[in-house]
Parts: sequence; C-alpha cells; structure tokens
Amino acid sequence: MAKIVGAITTSHVPAIGRAIFRNLHNEPYWKPFFEAYTPVHRWLQHTRPDVAVVFYNDHGLNFFLDKMPTFSIGAAPSYGTADEGWGLPALQPFTGDQDLSWHLIEQLIEQDFDLTTCQEMLVDHAVTLPMALLWPEQNWPVRIVPICINTVQFPLPSARRCYALGKAVGRSIRNWNSQARVAVIGTGGLSHQLDGERAGFINKDFDLRFMDSLTQDPRWATQFNSNQLVEQAGTQGVELLMWLAARAALGEGEVRCVHRNYHIPISNTASGLMVMEPTAD
Ligand code: DHB
Ligand code: FE
Repeated sequence: MAKIVGAITTSHVPAIGRAIFRNLHNEPYWKPFFEAYTPVHRWLQHTRPDVAVVFYNDHGLNFFLDKMPTFSIGAAPSYGTADEGWGLPALQPFTGDQDLSWHLIEQLIEQDFDLTTCQEMLVDHAVTLPMALLWPEQNWPVRIVPICINTVQFPLPSARRCYALGKAVGRSIRNWNSQARVAVIGTGGLSHQLDGERAGFINKDFDLRFMDSLTQDPRWATQFNSNQLVEQAGTQGVELLMWLAARAALGEGEVRCVHRNYHIPISNTASGLMVMEPTAD
C-alpha cells in the first residue's frame, strides 16, 4: 500500500515567482524567505516522494465565478500553466498520476465527498510556485494530483468540512494499492487581505496559534466558521483551509514538526512554511 511520507504547507504569493524569475534569492528582502526552504529540500532528498497530492485554491485561471465547484480534483495526464497576468513565465507542465486520481475520485465519492472531476485542468500560481520552491531545479521529480478547494467565491466550505476532506484523502491514499511514497502539500495563507478596508491586514497571533494547532490540536481551526476565519485571517487568509486539509491527511495520530518558518511580510501576506511527518506508520 502507498505511504504518506509527510505534509508540506506553504504560502504561494505571486511575488515569489517574480523573485525566482529575476534571481533575487539573496536580496535582503528575499533571503530570509528563500533560506527557509533549504531544510525542506534536504527533507525531500531524504524522503523521496514519488507523488504529491496538492491542496490548493484556484484564483480564476481554471475556474471562474460563473462555475465554481466547492471541491474539485484533477484526473489529467498532465497539468499546464498559463499567463495569469502577474507577468510570470509559464512553467513546464506537471505530470499527473491518473491512477491515484481515479482511486481518490472513487474513494471520496464513496465517502460522500462529491468532487468535480477534471480531466483537463490548468494550475495557477498556487501550484506552480510551491512546486518551484520545493524543487528549485524545476525538474518536477514527482507526479501530482491537484485538489482544489474554493476560497474565492462565497459560500466557502467550512473548516470542519475541509478537515474531513483531508482526512478522507489521507485514508484513501493509504489504501491505494501502490508502492508509491506520497507527499501531501497544502498551499496558501497565512493571514492576508488583498482588498477592501482591511487591505494589508495580517494577524500574527492567530497565524502562530494556527501553526501550533497543526501539531498540538489539529481540529482547533474547525471551531471557526467562514466569517470568523475572514475576521481572524483576512479575506484571502482563508486559504489556510488548504493547510488544514493537508494536515488532516496525516490522520489523527501524533505528527512531528520537522521544520517551520513564519515571515512577515511577503507582498501583502504573512508567509508560512511547515513540514510535518506522521510519527507512526
Ligand atoms: C498575494 C497573496 C496570495 O495568496 C495571492 O493568491 C495573490 C497575491 C499577495 O500577498 O500579494
Ligand atoms: Fe492566494
């Protein structure tokens, strides 16, 4: 059966792509941000995942406001990128893992999660930038299965529901008849608000409490409804739902925090990074 080697959660701010593209890694603004990924590269070399299941939120590249699935999953042989208007170069497409995609689709629908199945899917900066941060050579040594959670158009799925989805995804990966080593990635957050009266809003206390909760009390964030999450983390800070789903995929047992970083700000965002491993196999 497949094995989940751990979960990586990271922000996905578009400015990161510009910094990569312009090679700004050692500039004072960027150095503390990029340096935090070095231990993650070592962890990836050591754990050698074959597949990454990526919880992310599309920002209008693949889904627009006219048709907005709450949960969707890729079942494509490969996932292309495209110009989103940030001036970022389009990256090499990512190879999919259709066997795992269809296994997850069957298992999740059986477990009452009605995901929209996408046999074609473009992935935006919420997938491309975390991939480029984790594998800076951009050689993509993992196959991917993207799972998209709507955080763009209200009503949003509750934190409780995203936790349950993540848990079901984890359970389904673990019963996938494969020798693959699987990493689960959650991208987005942490606190940020890009527009409106509170543009620029960041809530460090809440972010740090949330990061602590992922190892100490993973259901902590499920006490908040969507409006409360917006209040605490900002309108786009609700992207922390991806972190919650990725953590939940590790199951209810104890997890070890292998690495963590919190850095304010990157663009308008409190950027966060965590690597967690299940302690029991
Ligand atoms: C920013 C952050 C995001 O998560 C995003 O999707 C777009 C922009 C920002 O801070 O600039
Ligand atoms: Fe975002």
